[in-house]
Amino acid sequence: MQTRTLGNQQVGAIGLGLMTFDQTGTQPRQQLLDTVTAAIDAGVTLLDTADAYGPGDEKGAGAQGENERLIASILDELGVRDRVLLATKGGHVRTDGGGWDTDSSAGHLRRAVDESLQRLGVEQLDLWQHHRPDPKVPYDDVIGTLKEIADSGKVARVGLSNADPQQIRDAHAVLGDALVSVQNQFSPKFRSSRPEIDVCEELGLAFLPWSPLGGLGDAKELAEKHPAFAEIAADRGVSAQQVALAWELAQSPVVIPIPGAKRPSSITDSAAAVHIELTRDELARLDAS
Ligand SMILES: NC(=O)c1ccc[n+]([C@@H]2O[C@H](COP(=O)([O-])OP(=O)(O)OC[C@H]3O[C@@H](n4cnc5c(N)ncnc54)[C@H](OP(=O)(O)O)[C@@H]3O)[C@@H](O)[C@H]2O)c1
Repeated sequence: MQTRTLGNQQVGAIGLGLMTFDQTGTQPRQQLLDTVTAAIDAGVTLLDTADAYGPGDEKGAGAQGENERLIASILDELGVRDRVLLATKGGHVRTDGGGWDTDSSAGHLRRAVDESLQRLGVEQLDLWQHHRPDPKVPYDDVIGTLKEIADSGKVARVGLSNADPQQIRDAHAVLGDALVSVQNQFSPKFRSSRPEIDVCEELGLAFLPWSPLGGLGDAKELAEKHPAFAEIAADRGVSAQQVALAWELAQSPVVIPIPGAKRPSSITDSAAAVHIELTRDELARLDAS
């Protein structure tokens, strides 16, 4: 697979989002093992989790950290730790009611890093991302905490998520080369992150589109919801999801989409998007759709 740059590291141009990995019932462990194996076989090297990812509402605060524990155990069982760059995030918390909340207090973010280190069983996190701005904490204060975390040596690289262009610039001014990426929503359905892509390109940061196929509710109906993507997919004999990912890759050389998958066939199909080079005409049709 072609590679793209994440700080000082080359990674496969398509990553794998792990948010829906869950072993509580519907997903046999072997299926998840096979999905990670299929991803690696296809050249995927960037995996994305978060400390707040875990099973659905019923587990509430008890879900915190479950996805990290699960992926750590899967990587160990497969013996592939050294073949992937495992990105995680902190700053979101699961609440007892089953909902989500933000906490960007310095104490919480420091603790979040320590707990992710422990759950993932590593001495340094490959990429630690601030998950989402917290309305209770000024972003400049968050940036100060991220700088302290970067200087601690506990994280090899720092990323932002759900940040706007000014927040990205402000963080970059303080963090410098320690900041390597921004993870924001971007897909055929959600295109308003174009300014953030431009800032990332200007500053040399990777841009990781989240829910790049439109998210769980829409990803499988991408062809029905976005006919231009379906038409080009039909012309080329590929899936509309591949065309969506190829269109995202064509936005900028800094883009590294992280489609979610809990089935091997999904990530195998998505990873093949790197082989599609859309023509200027096709890109114009998709941009205008
Ligand atoms: N930073 C943030 O705030 C934030 C928020 C949301 C998500 N994320 C990240 O973004 C990642 C992806 O987001 P997401 O899972 O919400 O949405 P998504 O990637 O847009 O869609 C995932 C869905 O697409 C299906 N799929 C994947 N590849 C496919 C293909 N080639 N053809 C047909 N269907 C395909 C998956 O199916 P199967 O599961 O059945 O394989 C799954 O149902 C998450 O895992 C997480 O890492 C970050």
